[in-house]
Amino acid sequence: MTRTIRTLFFSPTHSSRKIALAIADTLAAALGAKKEVQDVTLPEGRVPSKPCGPDDALVLAFPVYGGRVPQVLEALLADLEGQGAYAVVVAVYGNRHYDDALLEARDLLTRCGFKVIAAAAFIAEHSLTPKVGTGRPDDADMQRVADFARAAAEKIAGGNPAPVTVKGQRPYKERGPAAPVSPKTGEGCTECMICVASCPMGVISAHNPRLVSRGCICCFACVKSCPEGSKYFDDERIAQIRAMLESKCGARKEPELFL
Ligand SMILES: Cc1cc2nc3c(=O)[nH]c(=O)nc-3n(C[C@H](O)[C@H](O)[C@H](O)COP(=O)(O)O)c2cc1C
Ligand code: SF4
Ligand code: SF4
Repeated sequence: MTRTIRTLFFSPTHSSRKIALAIADTLAAALGAKKEVQDVTLPEGRVPSKPCGPDDALVLAFPVYGGRVPQVLEALLADLEGQGAYAVVVAVYGNRHYDDALLEARDLLTRCGFKVIAAAAFIAEHSLTPKVGTGRPDDADMQRVADFARAAAEKIAGGNPAPVTVKGQRPYKERGPAAPVSPKTGEGCTECMICVASCPMGVISAHNPRLVSRGCICCFACVKSCPEGSKYFDDERIAQIRAMLESKCGARKEPELFL
């Protein structure tokens, strides 16, 4: 019997969060289980999780970065203790591709003692450009999210669910070189500090939000959260990626479910 749905997500621009919480709600309602949520987006949330047990099911959701699980999550996920708990893994990507991210997440959780019984790749607006994946996840996506969660719940309720196979390759796609990059701040900044509070790496100075120290992961949380439109990237490499995405990734991709 599944008593607790443990939901863990990293979501700088909130789409993985939206999908994770919708899945957890449906699973909890269908299984009569309670919910626990751990948001690991901000540094203060990235604390060790208490071990799971055989009565728990974990929902893990994260954005795909460079076809992989975000590097900032690696150590945290490697330290989880599954102890036979079921897991539902969700990769959220910006309409380019999820490459090896689902497989990597499945491998990470399996190594920690989880039984990954369902997985899915959903699409959201690309963090780097609102012209790719615009408006997603939309109503049709959220319908698929609900269908996926109901199917996962049925699989769990049926007893002894089989582990799931997902797409992806080993060795995983190589991560790009960590080139130092950070956002700039325009004249319109009112020092409201919203960007400071939204930064998953804690690299925007709380004394002067125009100062950004090393360690930016280019998640665009500050850019998207600034009410004045004052945070921006002025970087040739990002401009090139954006141009590539806008020219090659316009065609709508659909969610993929693995059950
Ligand atoms: C650094 C970075 C790398 C990304 N890499 C990919 C990628 O490889 N494929 C893709 O389709 N989307 C990629 N995206 C887009 C995100 O996966 C997508 O926007 C996701 O919805 C963001 O999730 P969040 O809203 O939960 O933060 C990338 C975004 C960022 C910031
Ligand atoms: S400074 Fe970098 S890591 Fe921090 S919110 Fe902005 S883009 Fe993300
Ligand atoms: S969110 Fe925008 S206006 Fe507010 S401190 Fe950051 S850059 Fe300035």
